[in-house]
Amino acid sequence: MIKAVFAALLALVSFGFAEAQSPAEHPIMGWNSWNHFGGKVTDADVRSAADQLVSTGMRDAGYVYVNLDDTWQGKRDANGIIHPNERFPDMKALADYVHSKGLKFGIYSSPGAKTCGGYEGSLGHETQDAQTYAKWGVDFLKYDLCSYQDDMEKIREAHPDDADAEFRAMIEAYRKMGDALKATGRPIVYSLCQYGLAEPWKFGPQVKGQMWRTTDDISDNYYRMMLIAYANVPIASFSGPGHWNDPDMLEIGNGGMKFSEYRTHMTLWVMMSAPLLAGNDLSKMSEEDRSLLMNREAIAIDQDALGKSAERIWQRGDISFWKKPLADGSTAVAVVSADASPRDILLDLADAGLGSGATVHDVWSGKDLGRWPVRHAMRMEPHSAQLWVLRK
Ligand code: GLA
Repeated sequence: MIKAVFAALLALVSFGFAEAQSPAEHPIMGWNSWNHFGGKVTDADVRSAADQLVSTGMRDAGYVYVNLDDTWQGKRDANGIIHPNERFPDMKALADYVHSKGLKFGIYSSPGAKTCGGYEGSLGHETQDAQTYAKWGVDFLKYDLCSYQDDMEKIREAHPDDADAEFRAMIEAYRKMGDALKATGRPIVYSLCQYGLAEPWKFGPQVKGQMWRTTDDISDNYYRMMLIAYANVPIASFSGPGHWNDPDMLEIGNGGMKFSEYRTHMTLWVMMSAPLLAGNDLSKMSEEDRSLLMNREAIAIDQDALGKSAERIWQRGDISFWKKPLADGSTAVAVVSADASPRDILLDLADAGLGSGATVHDVWSGKDLGRWPVRHAMRMEPHSAQLWVLRK
């Protein structure tokens, strides 16, 4: 009896420990192969990304996950075990290599029969796949809806009077993998990717997800990036330690936006406590890319212990004002202009709860700007963002 009580206590303590050690207590940071390499990614690309995370200083800035996205899958063997394709000769060896650099290894699959790239998905093999990933040493799984949408369509047709049937099935498909990952005993961050269908910010934690995409895919385009940021405004309160809204990966360094636009991208992502998954070619990082991706103060805002996603205080035309409380009692504040022309504005710090003015630190220049009165006149350049930490 005493033994049983002791065992139960031990289980409770170690469960508490495992929970406290959740790998997604902070928004996860790393690199993902998709935005730059797409369907051509190889074992060598992933190894060199790991090398470059170290040599660029990205790892030491916090970017520790090396996430291999779609198109690694080969065939299943007679026992149903998934094997990588010829571009990935030995997945365990690849994971070991990534780990040897002090990094973590992420992988990708789908609850459907096929991934978005048409490769083998996990449908019907969830437990087996989770165990294979654990055996390889996988630390992160992005689970992308893809062809499961065809299954949902069939359910829709079969249940014309039950509008929710397809979504219940989808949630169960995500739960299945969540349970399978948990059963491996290995801490594997579970990242839901189903483009915001059926409000994953509500059901995500119940299926053991730690982050979930909130929208369709980002692209390397300013308007697309801004649209995604705006789409995340009404669901900010659903994000927090261990359960993060994911507005998708970063495009910084991929060439489709101007510097001030990429700075806006990083500003909004850190204000939203978004997972920070760089998607650029790490071998060609410019000084500008580094200054955005590796700004320690910006990263600290993203990773802040409170884990609050910013509230957009107001949006007036193309100008918006955002605030995010930080654990040390200060407030991170951003002003964003999506206007194509310069705009002179009068900022009222009382809107951010600083009615007596504030001491201001500018994150992007790293400079203290002194004490500001409650009203602050300023000019916003086209497609730009300011990011400050304010103290009473
Ligand atoms: C979907 C996802 C992307 C990427 C591709 C891969 O579009 O949303 O992030 O993983 O699939 O095929």
